[in-house]
Amino acid sequence: MEIAVCKTKEQASKLAADMITAAVAKNPKTVLGLATGSTPVAMYAEMAKAVKAKKVSYRQVKTWNLDEYVGLAGTHDQSYRYFMNKNLFEKIDIKLSNTHVLNGLAKDFDRECAAYEAQIRKAGGIDIQVLGIGSDGHIAFNEPGTSLSSRTSVVYLTPSTIRDNARLFFKGKEKEVPTRALSMGVGTICEAKKIILLAFGKGKADAVKGMVEGGISQFCTASVLQAHPDTWVFCDEEAASKLKLKKYYAWRSATKLGL
Ligand code: PGA
Repeated sequence: MEIAVCKTKEQASKLAADMITAAVAKNPKTVLGLATGSTPVAMYAEMAKAVKAKKVSYRQVKTWNLDEYVGLAGTHDQSYRYFMNKNLFEKIDIKLSNTHVLNGLAKDFDRECAAYEAQIRKAGGIDIQVLGIGSDGHIAFNEPGTSLSSRTSVVYLTPSTIRDNARLFFKGKEKEVPTRALSMGVGTICEAKKIILLAFGKGKADAVKGMVEGGISQFCTASVLQAHPDTWVFCDEEAASKLKLKKYYAWRSATKLGL
């Protein structure tokens, strides 16, 4: 696991976006796994800038998102489909038919999840998976206590995630946050060839500490990434503030990135 510690969220977002832009420029048929939440917004803006500057095209790129709330239609302004359309897909030259988000209104969730996994396999698997991290150490909506080999399925949000998501979205109304979601599994996520995880702010410092320097445990599902062969963490100083070897990680990653 490489941990790039940046002075600001903006710098980290730019570095992560550059990594994706370079990969897509090299392989125009890159398969991306994408994340929602407040964290990746600045990175998506940087990715869109690169398209505008004609450095890269997403015409042949296919994407699969991590998760979606149960009960929300893709047209609902708090759904993750809506979020992705607004924050990325409408700003780049991707074909909307090449973008995939789980259907939170599916009649049969097991079937929906199995079909999603089959689509990903058929596309050759995810080349680069973008992740955020929850303050409780979750990746996608894989909360503490989730099997580290779980597959895409219906999941149940912890009270702390419901609080976090109400604070940032849903106009602060906890009661409006769905308690269930469809989410890629931990095992599914780990099959991505490369993983880029973003973490910003002091609210993520404990989760980042658990992910990087804790033991691998289902209590912090992000910690499973210690066993992934190609994971890059882009974080700011605050999110990295509890890491024992922060300076070493920062130096090593900067050297590898040629900074
Ligand atoms: P956030 O969520 O980006 O809104 O902090 C991250 C996550 O829950 O994975």
